[in-house]
Amino acid sequence: MEKNEFEFDKITTHLVTSGFIYPSSEIYGGISNTWDYGPLGTNMKNHLKELWRKHFVVSNMNIFQIDPSIIMNPKVWEATGHVANFHDPLIDCKYCHSRFRADDLIKKQKPDMNVDAMSKDELNQIIQSGEIKCPNCGKSSFTPIRQFQMMFKTTIGVTEDKASTVYLRPETAQGLFVNFKNVQRTQRAKLPFGICDIGKAFRNEITPGNFTFRTREFEQMEIEFFFKPGEDLKWFEYWKNECLEFVNKIGLNKEKLRFRDHSAKELAFYSKATCDIEYLYPTLGWGELMGIASRTNYDLTRHAESSGQDLSYLDPTDNSRYVPHVIEPSFGLDRLLLALLCDAYDVEQLEKDQRIVMHIDKKLAPYSVAILPLSNKLNERAKERLWNLISAEYDAVFDTTGSIGKRYRREDAIGTPYCVTFDFDSLDDDAVTVRDRDTMKQERVKISELMTYLYAKFHE
Ligand code: GAP
Repeated sequence: MEKNEFEFDKITTHLVTSGFIYPSSEIYGGISNTWDYGPLGTNMKNHLKELWRKHFVVSNMNIFQIDPSIIMNPKVWEATGHVANFHDPLIDCKYCHSRFRADDLIKKQKPDMNVDAMSKDELNQIIQSGEIKCPNCGKSSFTPIRQFQMMFKTTIGVTEDKASTVYLRPETAQGLFVNFKNVQRTQRAKLPFGICDIGKAFRNEITPGNFTFRTREFEQMEIEFFFKPGEDLKWFEYWKNECLEFVNKIGLNKEKLRFRDHSAKELAFYSKATCDIEYLYPTLGWGELMGIASRTNYDLTRHAESSGQDLSYLDPTDNSRYVPHVIEPSFGLDRLLLALLCDAYDVEQLEKDQRIVMHIDKKLAPYSVAILPLSNKLNERAKERLWNLISAEYDAVFDTTGSIGKRYRREDAIGTPYCVTFDFDSLDDDAVTVRDRDTMKQERVKISELMTYLYAKFHE
């Protein structure tokens, strides 16, 4: 379906006012770049997680989902190099004292430069060259780059001394690596197999922003897929295809998706290849949706060395022993949701007025079905006949406020695929009117056939 283009801010305003996402702690004036998911955003996030689970976990015999903790032994982050290297390059404008990420600033003003591949010294040279301007005051005089640790620190126990310092995990992935042996042993898993999770990650980003695109607290859906060394490129291609298939399945506009392979200079020294799937966000431009990384055996080897535990695998096919290699497909749930919402938003010109409509994939919509009694006199009867029947299968909403026309518009604006209206005729014919969000067509359906009808609609 042809769709109009809209400014990013217009879409996010709609998301806030209609109950997808709220500013966090709003009654206290909020806290910058921190967001709470409202009832609609939460429902949709749950549906998205469920589809991810179905695609990657439930339908695969050899992928195991776990739920590791957010606070881990701090030695984990020493072993991976996060304590030493998980930094962002921070600079301040010497005139107005605005604070920036050096790489971000260069990227915005010199889009042709491959900033991701540059060392700290190279970034510093460009920042100090006089070519980069402060977006706030226009001057070109910055402090040298300071490396800013992005992991949030906290303490456990009753004393706030160094011994009790712990970190909020900056990625969920390490909880998967440190459980490699546990899962392999208890599930009798044979290579190739994967361990995955869905959970929160925390990064003290210097420049969060663009709504939920870059925040300090976000959710990831990550897989570590382990296999015999040497099969890296085969599995890398396999996971690129799987991930692309998934983003197509959830209905993202194909023309707004692209792969971006990392150049050799951008790759970590242990990585064989990394590729991002990017989405063309309105106003913001291309942004990373998720990444697929070939990480060799770096993480398992580091954890084995640091913990003193044997994390190798005895291959029953030839009795060889080795540390498995890994491909890591890592989705950011918030960015995926934001892309879906941007894709879905539309304002359609009708004969007499306009309607805002969210063309969200039916399986992901916050509510699948709205139950609308035509008159308040019908509320009880509609509830008796329809609520238990429909809510047993679908996320449903029961809306009695306003004229039926207004209610249809309200449901269009939050993406509800089907409205089921119970009217005075329903008392006699035991049928309801089902209205389709996208076509606005209405059909009369017997209540006894309603669930079969809806099932067919959700699976067409
Ligand atoms: N374990 C690999 C890893 O964490 P990453 O590229 O840093 O890789 C993976 O993060 C995904 O997490 C990104 O593609 C993005 O979707 C999401 N993500 C990362 N930082 C984020 C932030 N500050 N806010 C929202 N999402 C973020």
